Amino acid sequence: MPALDPIARADLGPSPKAIEDFRSSMAEFWHPVCEAQALQEGRPVGVTLLGRRVVLVQLDGQLVAMPDTCRHFQAQLSLGEVVTVGGAQALQCPYHGWAFGAGGHCVRIPQLAEGRAIPTAANLPAYLVEERHGLIWVCLSGAPRFPLPEFPELHDPAFRSLRLTEEELVKTSSVRMVMGTLDDTHFPWVHEGILGDRDHPEPPDHRVWREGDELIVQYETVQPPGLLTVDQSNPEAGEAGDVTLTYTDYVAMPGVIRLVKDSPSGRYVIWLATSPVDWNLTQTFWIFSRNFDMAPESDDAFLDLSSHVRLQDKPVIESQRPWLVPPFWTQMELPVGPGDLPLMQYQKWIEELGIATAI
Ligand code: FES
Ligand SMILES: [Fe+2]
Repeated sequence: MPALDPIARADLGPSPKAIEDFRSSMAEFWHPVCEAQALQEGRPVGVTLLGRRVVLVQLDGQLVAMPDTCRHFQAQLSLGEVVTVGGAQALQCPYHGWAFGAGGHCVRIPQLAEGRAIPTAANLPAYLVEERHGLIWVCLSGAPRFPLPEFPELHDPAFRSLRLTEEELVKTSSVRMVMGTLDDTHFPWVHEGILGDRDHPEPPDHRVWREGDELIVQYETVQPPGLLTVDQSNPEAGEAGDVTLTYTDYVAMPGVIRLVKDSPSGRYVIWLATSPVDWNLTQTFWIFSRNFDMAPESDDAFLDLSSHVRLQDKPVIESQRPWLVPPFWTQMELPVGPGDLPLMQYQKWIEELGIATAI
């Protein structure tokens, strides 16, 4: 059979090998899985990360993450309840009452003959789990390649931050979602009048470099005046023209991006943490921080505008094929320099990390 051309290959989607490489390589990083406030004492929460069911639960005040699949007959532990076994809290399976303590150890099998020890094969592995920036983060591999991402503005009292967790999953991979947020040459096309102008589609002069676990992109650009670029609470700001601003984009590899927009009005930060629910499904956790127009009454306008921009992006990003980013050698994509330099550098790094290796 003749080799498929790149377009046909893209439409057909990734191979099982590409999906497996994505899942196994992404397992080596921290990913957010839910808001911290979703986790209440005594109530297990089931999430999906990289196609794997994970249960989160507080046991004696300790945050625990383990497979949401019972070792006995694979029922879902998050349907169970927190009980006390031998003085310590454990998560009890709803099906036959096996119970698993912190560390995933099976601490009770009700059907076991008296005097028989619980087999070690009944234990579940525990995953690394942390709370940071109001989210719960899990690393499936036990050895994260990079630390949890920093977010200085969120913890700076000079900033006001708004949180937005999308209930609806985005039908794309998390790496596509990050690329869609890092990409600036789409501004005049998808967000005309808000972030760009089609009469000026020329790309900015990007500076791109790596620092620790971060890919950093910086450039100057001009955008129409609006909520994100002009302080609406300043009475003298009304007649403003186009605004020159500096973007500094920090990608905490591979799935978290912080866009820092500095304008004469102040700083506006768009933070996106992606959760790879699976190779073609992404949960998005957004936080927006600003140090101007700080009145709480302005919050709705900022959230409405962010919502509008996200909805402009969503159908376009979901339409991209294949959902997994193909490696460069396939020539399935045709990035054009210098405008696509940030995306090329991101793609190069995820390839080095083993995330995009096959088609
Ligand atoms: S399936 Fe969990 S105890 Fe049987
Ligand atoms: Fe966009």
